[in-house]
Amino acid sequence: MTSAPAVEFQGIDKNFSGVPVLRAVTFSVAAGRTLGLVGENGAGKSTLMNILGGNLRSDHGRMVLAGQPYAPGHPTDASRRGVAFIHQDLNLFSNLTIAENIFLTSFPRLGGAPWIAQRRLHTRTTQLLHDVGLDLAPDTPVERLSTGECQLVEIARALSVDARLIILDEPTTSLSARETDALFALLRRLQAQGIALIYISHILEHVRQLCHDVVVLRDGAVVAQGTIATFSTAALISAMVGRSLTQLYPTRHGAATGEMALEVKAVSQPGIVRAIDFTVRRGEVVGMFGLMGAGRSELARILFGLEPHASGEISIAGQPLAHADARRRIEHGLAFVSDDRRHDGLCLHASIADNLALVSLRSHARGKFKLIDRTGWQRAISRIREAVRLTAKANDDQPVQTLSGGNQQKVALGKWLLMSPAVLILDEPTRGVDVGAKFDLYQLMLDLADRGSGLLVISSEIEELIGICDRILVMSQGEIRGNFRRTEFNRETLLTAALPRETQT
Ligand SMILES: Nc1ncnc2c1ncn2[C@@H]1O[C@H](COP(=O)(O)OP(=O)(O)OP(=O)(O)O)[C@@H](O)[C@H]1O
Ligand SMILES: [Mg+2]
Repeated sequence: MTSAPAVEFQGIDKNFSGVPVLRAVTFSVAAGRTLGLVGENGAGKSTLMNILGGNLRSDHGRMVLAGQPYAPGHPTDASRRGVAFIHQDLNLFSNLTIAENIFLTSFPRLGGAPWIAQRRLHTRTTQLLHDVGLDLAPDTPVERLSTGECQLVEIARALSVDARLIILDEPTTSLSARETDALFALLRRLQAQGIALIYISHILEHVRQLCHDVVVLRDGAVVAQGTIATFSTAALISAMVGRSLTQLYPTRHGAATGEMALEVKAVSQPGIVRAIDFTVRRGEVVGMFGLMGAGRSELARILFGLEPHASGEISIAGQPLAHADARRRIEHGLAFVSDDRRHDGLCLHASIADNLALVSLRSHARGKFKLIDRTGWQRAISRIREAVRLTAKANDDQPVQTLSGGNQQKVALGKWLLMSPAVLILDEPTRGVDVGAKFDLYQLMLDLADRGSGLLVISSEIEELIGICDRILVMSQGEIRGNFRRTEFNRETLLTAALPRETQT
C-alpha cells in the first residue's frame, strides 16, 4: 500500500512588501521519511516552515497534509493536525518553569482538578525530559538553563503534541556533540515510528547522517531535489550557493606582530573559572575550543566586564582594566560578539542601519554640537553591508528581526568592523550561517587580524578553529587545559584536551 505523502507543497508563493521570498515552491515529504531542507541564509526555509506551521499565510498555492487539504490559520491549527514545529530561534518564557513552557497551550486540556493536572504535568514532563536526554526537574525555571538545554526543552515541547510531522529548524546550533548524538538517536526512534521529519540545517554532514531526501532552496525557489545519496556534498553546496566553492576557509597571510592585545592573568571566579592565564597578540587569531559547559562563554562575559570575577588581572592593549565596566573596556578597544544575538548582540526592533551604527556612532559626530555626519554614516553602513554581503533584499530601515538568522549574525559582527578594535572576542560567530557566508565571515575576521586586531574566537566547531586560527586554547571544567600552535593541533589532540577529567577523591 502506498500512503499519501505526509505533506505536499503545491506552488507556494510568498511576498514580503512586494519582495518575492518564495516562488512556486512545489515538493512533497514522504510519510515516514526525513527530508533535509537546505539553502543559503535568506533562501526562504524558515518562511516556508512558518507557512506549514500556521504562523504565516502563503499568497498563492496550497498544501495537502496526509491527503487532506490543509490551510492552518494559526499555530494551534497546525498542532491539532499533528504538525509540530521546533523554531530556529528559541521562544520560551524565561520566567516560567520547564513544565509550564511545555504545556503552556495544552495545560487546560490535561483535565481534572488543578492539583491532579499539576501532578500529571509533572509526570508527563519528567518523561519528556527523559526522552530528550535532559536530567532536570520539571519545575526548574527556564532562565536557569543554558541555550543548549533550552533547545532540548523546545524539542520536548514538540514531542508533547502527538505529532505526525515534525519540523526542526536548525535544532543543533546550541547543542554539544553529545546532546546532538542524543537528539539524533531520538529522531531515529521517531523515524522508526513512522513520523515524517523536515530537517533544516547548515551542517551538511548532519543532513547526510539523518535525511533520506533533500530539497535545495535558492532565492525562494526549489533548485534541486532527490534522495540524499544522489548528491555529493560539493553538488549540494553548489546548488545552494549557485557557484562551486573551491575552498571552505580563506588562506591566512598575516602573522602576530608581537604587541600584546589581551593579557589575562590568574583570573578566577569560584564555581565558574579557575586560574585563567593566556594572551592574545595583535594580529593573532586565537581559538578557544571546549565542550558545552566548559566555561568559555562565562569567561568571555567576565573578560568583557558583564560578569564579576573574584581575582586576577585583565589588560587590554597594555592597560590593566580588571575592574572596569564594559563601557570602559570598549573605550580601551575591547569588542565582543556574544553567542546570544537575540539578547545582547542586537536590538531586534531597531533598523539594520541603527544596529550597525550603534557602536561607531560617536565616530561620526562632528563639530562643537556633535552633530552626526549622516553622509559619512550612510557611507559607513553601505561599506559594512558590502563587506558582510548582507542580503540586498533588505533595506537599511528594515528592523533586524525581519532578517534571516544568518543575516542577523552578519549584522552583529558587522557593527564592529569599522572600529578595528584592539581585541575582538567572538562567541560562536558562524552559528546558523550558511557555507558561502561563513567563508565571507572568516575572511572578515582574518582581515581584522591583518589590520592589527587580536581575535579570540570561541567555537564548538573544531574544523572551523583549525581552519582559521594561529593558536587554539582548550577549556574544560572552567580551566585552560591546552594551548596548541598551528603545527601541533588536530582533531584528536583538541578533543582529548577538552574531555573533562575524572574528579579526584
Ligand atoms: N517579516 C518579514 N518582513 C520582511 N522580510 C522578511 C520577513 N521575514 C522574512 N523576511 C525575508 O524573507 C527572506 C527569507 O527569510 P527566511 O528567514 O525564510 O530565510 P532562511 O532560509 O530561513 O535563512 P537562514 O538560513 O538564515 O535561517 C529573507 O530575505 C528575509 O529577510
Ligand atoms: Mg531560517
